[in-house]
Amino acid sequence: MVTEVAVNRGLRGVYFDTTTASMIDGDVGRLIYRGYEIGDLALHSTAEETFYLLLKGKLPTRAELDAFDAEMKQSRPIPDYVYQVIRLVQKAHPMDVLRTAVSALAATDPDVDDNSLEATLRKGIRLTAQAPTIVAAHYRIRNGLPPVPPHPSLSHAENFLYMLFNQKPAPEDAKLMDTDFILHAEHGANASAFAARVAAGTAADLHAAVTAGIATLKGPMHGGAAEAVMKMAVDIGEEDHAQEYVRHVLESGGRVMGFGHRVYRVEDPRARYLRDGCRRLGEQKGDPKWFRILSRVEDAMQPYRARGIYVNVDFWAGAIYHLLGIPEDLFISIFALGRVPGWTLQVMEQYSNNILIRPLLKYVGPMNLKYIPIELRG
Ligand code: CMC
Repeated sequence: MVTEVAVNRGLRGVYFDTTTASMIDGDVGRLIYRGYEIGDLALHSTAEETFYLLLKGKLPTRAELDAFDAEMKQSRPIPDYVYQVIRLVQKAHPMDVLRTAVSALAATDPDVDDNSLEATLRKGIRLTAQAPTIVAAHYRIRNGLPPVPPHPSLSHAENFLYMLFNQKPAPEDAKLMDTDFILHAEHGANASAFAARVAAGTAADLHAAVTAGIATLKGPMHGGAAEAVMKMAVDIGEEDHAQEYVRHVLESGGRVMGFGHRVYRVEDPRARYLRDGCRRLGEQKGDPKWFRILSRVEDAMQPYRARGIYVNVDFWAGAIYHLLGIPEDLFISIFALGRVPGWTLQVMEQYSNNILIRPLLKYVGPMNLKYIPIELRG
């Protein structure tokens, strides 16, 4: 007999564990990493420092940051066989290539089977450093260009843009990429971190958990929105068409990408820092059109604020990547590059007090059917 139980579809509003990684207050639009306001980190920190903060739980001293930075730089190269894997699957979506290559890295990682916190941290630092090398190598290989080896001294953000375009980026481009990595690094029980925790909950290793995270991030309801926003901006074409475009999408029951969030009922605080960056970058590049189109989309969505639907982190990110010369199908991968430290941290939290994540499904199908041999079925 099926007992009466409450079903929490989508686990909406369910707390399934505790964390010291990040805190989101969706009512006021507040995000904190390890106690620090996201705005302070976006304006004053670097990706390296924020990754250290997340992974090690405190802001580093200069010596600690230098050592961490050296470990990251030293970890950037990927083995030759991973380049071969990338070549073999180069026609796939960049997220599929990233997922496959991260999975392939498990084959030779010296700590692969070691789920101790120390080994998981080492692997997390390696994966954080190696993932940009994979994404950039794939971009170049599929364009018939030789991969650019990681630079030994550029920062994490500079090195990623350098490996993509084979030239050192302008400081303001690198700064924006760096801010983008900071803003995407950690975000509570989002779908991809939850997937990583589910994998870790079975005592699967970090490569397995990060592979699950990448697979889950791919969907347009999660990491795929920045790509969809840029496609929308291209479709709109001119700022004067934005209002009409949005009306059409909403009237036909569609969703305007880059709006809405499961937790935030007000503006996603991460969007604030990307909005300014998008405007400035557009002006610097002499291409302010995208910022203007998206601003008009935001205006057109004003009535939805009453329902708690505001811009989210992905709304401005797409236009920024586009202005940096990055093709649309790489946008989700950039989100993934930023998120590797967050996945790692949550896997470490999961391991440190592990429990199998295994909820229940309420069965609502038929009962007591009689098995009929196949030759007697009509
Ligand atoms: N445009 C129009 N209506 C929307 C939108 C939107 N972008 N988002 C939510 N709604 C409406 C939705 O139609 C529903 O209306 P009704 O109650 O009349 O059926 C109501 O708001 C609640 O939507 P929901 O899907 O039940 O809410 P959710 O918390 O499950 O969805 C979301 C969150 C992010 C999946 C959703 O807002 C969405 O699909 N947004 C567009 C995709 C997007 O921008 N994703 C990036 C999320 S931020 C990056 C990340 O952290 O992954």
